[in-house]
Amino acid sequence: MQTTKGSIVVTGSSRGIGKEIARQLLLLGYSVAINGRNEARLNATLQDLKAISGNVIAVLSDVSDSDGADLLIKDAVKEFGRIDALINNVGVSSRGSLANLHPSVIRLLFESNVYGAIYPTQSALPYLRITRGSIIFVSSLASIRGLPGLSPYSASKMALRAFAEAIRIEEHEHGVHAGIVLVGKTAVEQDKEVIMEEGSTRLLAPRIGKGIQSMERVAKGIIQAVFRRKNQVTMTPLGKLQWVLQAIAPKLVERIILKNIHRFEEENK
Ligand SMILES: NC(=O)c1ccc[n+]([C@@H]2O[C@H](COP(=O)([O-])OP(=O)(O)OC[C@H]3O[C@@H](n4cnc5c(N)ncnc54)[C@H](OP(=O)(O)O)[C@@H]3O)[C@@H](O)[C@H]2O)c1
Repeated sequence: MQTTKGSIVVTGSSRGIGKEIARQLLLLGYSVAINGRNEARLNATLQDLKAISGNVIAVLSDVSDSDGADLLIKDAVKEFGRIDALINNVGVSSRGSLANLHPSVIRLLFESNVYGAIYPTQSALPYLRITRGSIIFVSSLASIRGLPGLSPYSASKMALRAFAEAIRIEEHEHGVHAGIVLVGKTAVEQDKEVIMEEGSTRLLAPRIGKGIQSMERVAKGIIQAVFRRKNQVTMTPLGKLQWVLQAIAPKLVERIILKNIHRFEEENK
């Protein structure tokens, strides 16, 4: 391994936005630890990224499990000697009304999206205190208010904001920064799946057209949030408008969603 600008751990980076974050960080001259649970996918991504830089390692682990999260952090420290930033990118999504969701789906969402961000953060804190580094939680515009058909997803992504706010103050004296990025609807890889009401998975329809952000743009925004130590970044003008409307006219927002519920469900397929 060559000397680099620093080392960054990106959870859930064997595909999608996480992989793109890793790619851009390597191009910028950082060492990167990537992570995922599917071994074949993780190894294929490692090979892709090695074509850019040799300063990358892959750690096969489930970060919703505290031992898996610890393994990722320890392996990164063993390889790079330090951690300058942690990007908590892991996230899974479900579809369906709460009345129809199997309890295991709700559990999976919270384990992946909340524990899967908190466990790596806890494991990384001792090392981030040494470098006075930063943590970014990848959240969603679906966390601005609870959304129908996405209730566990909205709630789990909302929880990350509370963690970021609390940790930022707890770690202030140690120089560790924590922030959150609310991502809007983004292009997805062909094999991205969502979890259905009874626990099966379904491939997500391709996303193209107006209002869909590219993975490149989203990854760039997340990396900027790390470097600029942003407390909160809301992507897309629509996301910013949602905050304003939710603050000044929450009842109106609720009426708009109710009136357009079928369109909303169709768009989220
Ligand atoms: N795409 C969007 O439109 C959008 C919008 C708003 C917010 N976001 C957020 O952005 C983040 C990335 O989304 P994406 O669309 O790029 O997702 P994605 O394509 O489904 O990729 C998720 C990555 O996380 C890994 N992963 C999932 N659970 C894991 C676990 N428990 N431990 C370790 N790795 C795990 C997956 O690999 P394995 O399955 O092999 O583990 C994969 O590498 C998520 O937090 C998502 O909620 C996305």
